Amino acid sequence: NKGKYEHYMQKEIHEQPESLTTTMRGRLKRGGSTKAKTVLLGGLKDHIKSIRRSRRIVFIGCGTSYNAALAARPIIEELSGVPVTMEIASDLVDRQGPIYREDTAVFVSQSGETADTLLALEYALENGALCVGITNTVGSAIARNTHCGIHLNAGCEIGVASTKAYTSQIVVMAMLALAIGDDAISSQARREAIIDGLFDLPNKVREVLKLDQEMKELAKLLIAEQSLLVFGRGYNFATALEGALKVKEVSLMHSEGMLAGEMKHGPLALVDENLPIIVIATRDACFSKQQSVIQQLHARKGRLIVVCSKGDAAAVCPGGSSSCRVIEVPQVEDCLQPVVNIIPLQLLAYHLTVLRGYNVDQPRNLAKSVTTQ
Ligand code: F6R
Repeated sequence: NKGKYEHYMQKEIHEQPESLTTTMRGRLKRGGSTKAKTVLLGGLKDHIKSIRRSRRIVFIGCGTSYNAALAARPIIEELSGVPVTMEIASDLVDRQGPIYREDTAVFVSQSGETADTLLALEYALENGALCVGITNTVGSAIARNTHCGIHLNAGCEIGVASTKAYTSQIVVMAMLALAIGDDAISSQARREAIIDGLFDLPNKVREVLKLDQEMKELAKLLIAEQSLLVFGRGYNFATALEGALKVKEVSLMHSEGMLAGEMKHGPLALVDENLPIIVIATRDACFSKQQSVIQQLHARKGRLIVVCSKGDAAAVCPGGSSSCRVIEVPQVEDCLQPVVNIIPLQLLAYHLTVLRGYNVDQPRNLAKSVTTQ
């Protein structure tokens, strides 16, 4: 049932304040003044100590689910102190890459049925790793075959392009980071700030969804483009990959997400006055580096669209508002910023697709659940 919406993708983008609320429900505790703020992940309670003691955490997934894990990687590393590596499921299986008994392998999959991810799970089980599932589908193959796990509780996702599952996956993995790091006194203030940020996140998402009309206007400007680049780094490298994936899979426009730190190592050659480039430059520890990336793109007359924190338009636009288009988003705790930042890009992908006359809920050649290799 699409309710008041024209498409499932549109509905699922706009219901993110609610899906994030259900993802967090019953899992975050903010006690009275004496009680510390904590996270409770029922499905992991018997395994959290083993996860904390593991030699390495390996995230395994495909497409959007992989991108969500990439967004959460920095906070898991920071709060757990455990090295985190990333594997695209098919690539792990192709390489028969090393997985050990001392590893925790985390399988991220909205459907819980993706063939590549399932094969990687079989492989990790054979190698003796502790296997954790993060899925949106109770009773799915990945939920059944992992040792323990966390359900997204994001509600059924029907549009082929994953939207609300992505933001719920990031939130679940942020809660996982909090749960693993729960015994460290040194990071208590940081953990509490993140918990406060999680409580407030649905409101911030509601606020950023007000950009809908602005993103439709931007889509009108980009409707006839051949190509689009998206640059991000740090917490928002994932935003660049996921934003570009959304645009390419539904609007059928070529788009590439890139690590901004790699710009000078090749992609800079593409920059001219025609190619649209989105730069994610919200406030975090990488902000000044992103400012200099923008300056370099500007010096080469790049056609810039900058996603920045509210009030930062002047700080990110070297030549004033005529030289670039600015999308201002509410600022949240740095590790939660990818949840907010992806939303204008989801809206852009949606509007571009509708304006270009393509099927947004069922892009050509794609299936919601990829159950074959
Ligand atoms: C993109 C998309 C795909 C899936 C991928 C994995 O919008 O939906 O990239 O994310 O096929 O699917 P799951 O998460 O079901 O394993």
